[in-house]
Amino acid sequence: MSEPIRLKVNGDVHLVAAGPTDSLLDVLRERLSITGAKRGCDRGECGACTVLLDDLPVNACLVLARRVRGASVTTVEGLRCGENLHPLQRAFHELGATQCGFCTPGMLLSAKALLDHNFTPTREEIRTAISGNLCRCTGYTKIVAAISVAARAIALTKELGDGARTASSSEHDRDKSFIGVVGRRLPKIDGLGHVTGATKYADDLVLPRMLYAKPVYSAHDHARIVRVDVSRARQAPGVAAVITAQDVPENRCGLTVKDQPVIADDKVRHRGDVVAFVAATDPRAAAQAASLVAVEYKPLPAIFDPVESLRPGTLTIHEPGNLVPFNASGCIRIRRGDVNAAFDAADIVLDETYRTSPIEHAAMEPHAMLVLPGPTGSLTIWTPNQVLFTRAAEIAGILKLPLSKLRVIAPPIGGGFGGKNDVTHEPHIALLALQTGRPVKYTWSRAEEFIASSVRHPFVMRHRIGVMRDGTIVAKWVDTTGDAGPYANQSPAVLTVHCIFSCGPYRVPNISIEGRLAYTNNQIAGAFRGYGVVQAAFAVESQMDAAAAALGIGPLEFRKRNALREGDTSPTGQPLAGVGIGECLDRVADALERDHE
Ligand code: FES
Ligand code: FES
Repeated sequence: MSEPIRLKVNGDVHLVAAGPTDSLLDVLRERLSITGAKRGCDRGECGACTVLLDDLPVNACLVLARRVRGASVTTVEGLRCGENLHPLQRAFHELGATQCGFCTPGMLLSAKALLDHNFTPTREEIRTAISGNLCRCTGYTKIVAAISVAARAIALTKELGDGARTASSSEHDRDKSFIGVVGRRLPKIDGLGHVTGATKYADDLVLPRMLYAKPVYSAHDHARIVRVDVSRARQAPGVAAVITAQDVPENRCGLTVKDQPVIADDKVRHRGDVVAFVAATDPRAAAQAASLVAVEYKPLPAIFDPVESLRPGTLTIHEPGNLVPFNASGCIRIRRGDVNAAFDAADIVLDETYRTSPIEHAAMEPHAMLVLPGPTGSLTIWTPNQVLFTRAAEIAGILKLPLSKLRVIAPPIGGGFGGKNDVTHEPHIALLALQTGRPVKYTWSRAEEFIASSVRHPFVMRHRIGVMRDGTIVAKWVDTTGDAGPYANQSPAVLTVHCIFSCGPYRVPNISIEGRLAYTNNQIAGAFRGYGVVQAAFAVESQMDAAAAALGIGPLEFRKRNALREGDTSPTGQPLAGVGIGECLDRVADALERDHE
């Protein structure tokens, strides 16, 4: 049962309803529409929700609202000093300490708590103060620098009074007058919104009569669906709609292979498969109703290893088999020269298998999306997607709507790294909006991110290299099996790029590269920074070290001898221009030498 509590937020007193389990973050964001404090994990891990509670930094997601009645709360929206930015806000903006900006409000408040009592913090003290605030984009260097700069500005102001502020402003203005475009530090175009809390990410958006959605995910890695009963969920308080596979106009989707059900019908193939989706008047009612969806499964054995998945006789995840059928052969093959003859002639041949593991993108902003139905069956979709036009076409196909009926808008993205490259739950939310005639929002929990979003591909890569005593690479044979997870998604494109880069930035006259993809019951794999190249680099560079050691040549020297040069071609015959690896290695060698002196 909700009861009113009094809170002072950014100097204004509010009387606001709080339930027994409502957190301070719930109250700020959902009741007061103060969205500067972000919901990154909702469990005290990321610091995106940091606010000052009576001047002390706290994770608002961990604080029960009723426990802090009467308290004074400062969010990023209350950080300005009148019309002026707080020195921290100014420093973050001017030094480029924000990238996606999702961590910035929490980071600023942790920094403020430090500078409120320490104007001359050491680097270590700054790092300790923000150690509870995760940033996925910046690498922290500029954040620490910005806090140092702000500390100096505050100390100077305290020492010299307003004169210092005027001096520092005019210094800034003078600097501005010299600002050009190329080769100059320019503030990020959206940086001001990030440091003031004005940037609205998808989960910050609210529309009148908005419903909240919740998925029902598979309870198994692999199982047949016997029955889905949504009758109890439909009657639950606050529920406006429940959709299942029967409600999806085109229930098979996929970029290159149409192998993925929008809502699972016959089978579930991983824990992230959606079995039903619920929309209700508030997030708790939606979660409660989702828990009432009864699904009867017939569990099947599951496969988690891509190599095992392709062994003859292994159970199949899709018919007719587990080789992803993205082309006629299900393989990428690249050949150059006579690889067998080159291996025969080589002085040393090394053969090793390398494996990489799945990696979650872990953007600080969880996926979130909002769909507004229009009067004539049209839809406006806000989704922080990195590839809007392609994805809009996919969504239109699933909904069997003309593209002209869709308006897809990308709000600011709180970190993507490739993870916001796929169509995820946009079609589900659109269907719920069409069925109810009301706007519907869905924001993934952090746990759901780890279950249902895509990951970096695990690859099993066997690399064989042939080298001569003088340190020349003469042949490379590569055999890669990629783990696509249960659906092809973007895997064929990722595999293609991976294969092209499987010799690294090195000259190899004789090449045989082959790659394939296996279905497994692991999390679905997709785009991730580097798009398959990172895994190849791990295998290539590991083997370069091993080959250098076998030859008794320094690893840097071995790389220099074999680096690609201007005019060389890639393994697929593409002429290369602007090749900088040789010069780069020379500079690394010089720097290392200087370090030794
Ligand atoms: S620590 Fe509160 S949202 Fe992550
Ligand atoms: S700028 Fe820190 S998470 Fe993106």
